[in-house]
Amino acid sequence: MPESALIAAIRKIDDEFRGRFDQVCDAASLEQVRIDFLGRKGRISRTFESIGSAPPEEKKEAGRLLNELKDRVQSAVAEKAASVKAKKAAGASFDPSLPGNTPPVGRVHPLTSVMRRIKSCFQHMGFSVAQGPEVETDYYNFEALNIPKGHPARDMQDTLYISDSVVLRTHTSPVQVRVMEKTKPPVRIIAPGRVFRRDTPDASHSPVFHQVEGLCVDENVSFSDLKGVILALARELFGSDMKIRFRPSFFPFTEPSAEYDFTCMICRGKGCRVCKNTGWVEISGAGMVNPEVFRFVGIDSERFTGYAFGMGVERVAMLLYEVHDIRLFYENDVRFLYQF
Ligand code: PHE
Repeated sequence: MPESALIAAIRKIDDEFRGRFDQVCDAASLEQVRIDFLGRKGRISRTFESIGSAPPEEKKEAGRLLNELKDRVQSAVAEKAASVKAKKAAGASFDPSLPGNTPPVGRVHPLTSVMRRIKSCFQHMGFSVAQGPEVETDYYNFEALNIPKGHPARDMQDTLYISDSVVLRTHTSPVQVRVMEKTKPPVRIIAPGRVFRRDTPDASHSPVFHQVEGLCVDENVSFSDLKGVILALARELFGSDMKIRFRPSFFPFTEPSAEYDFTCMICRGKGCRVCKNTGWVEISGAGMVNPEVFRFVGIDSERFTGYAFGMGVERVAMLLYEVHDIRLFYENDVRFLYQF
């Protein structure tokens, strides 16, 4: 039996609805589809009207098909309306053109950044980075550095003892010994790290502070090489008008020994409170490795010479950033830290 024109018309409406419904992208186009198909004068209502005048044998089947189509169209439209509404609601609170919320980020601590600059400068001069323990034995911290028990030089550094033979290292010099024990010359290392002394905190003292140790051992290493690397570092950090000076001093592990100063960059050498009107700021000690130390680590002091230096990281940082009180570095006051 060929399909009646009425039933064919219903199927066509169905097809058209699917086509139109697929194109719906917003509330307005959905509403237009609803009016066209479900409205009082829409395709479906009008077809119901024409069913009335159809032959009885067609009425039943056409009525069933059209009712089924109407239900399907109604629920499809209702479902789409809900999802369009939900999308709009979500979209209203999201403006992709607004700048994002930047999460608060910390900053590099001034001591860390000074430490990094010092390290990178020496690495460019061919030094590699060595490390040693902060809890150190008396042997490495003192004995092997030619500071025997009872030696007055032990009083130079107020030591924090863990036991009779274990200390918190008072300087980074023990790393020199550890490296030389393991490495044959040529040796060229820096050893950055924390050191500890029994000091009462004040504007220029802290019981914990940082040093960078330097050590170079090879044939024909001289005091002028030492001056060269210190000057190179000073100029890298402070600029080419920076001057350094060495004053004779004493350390049991270097001979000859010196203490060295940088031009006070706060007053550019004119004299101020920080440099106590001298125009210079003391950075640390240095000198030629004492043959006694070479003896401890089994390096031939007839063939090899070496220089060693310490560097007070806080002193360099204070000079660089014009910080007048060392304690500011450890208090973690964000008003201070945000300035860097
Ligand atoms: N270790 C010494 C100090 O802390 C500094 C120093 C290092 C001196 C290397 C000479 C050679 O005071």
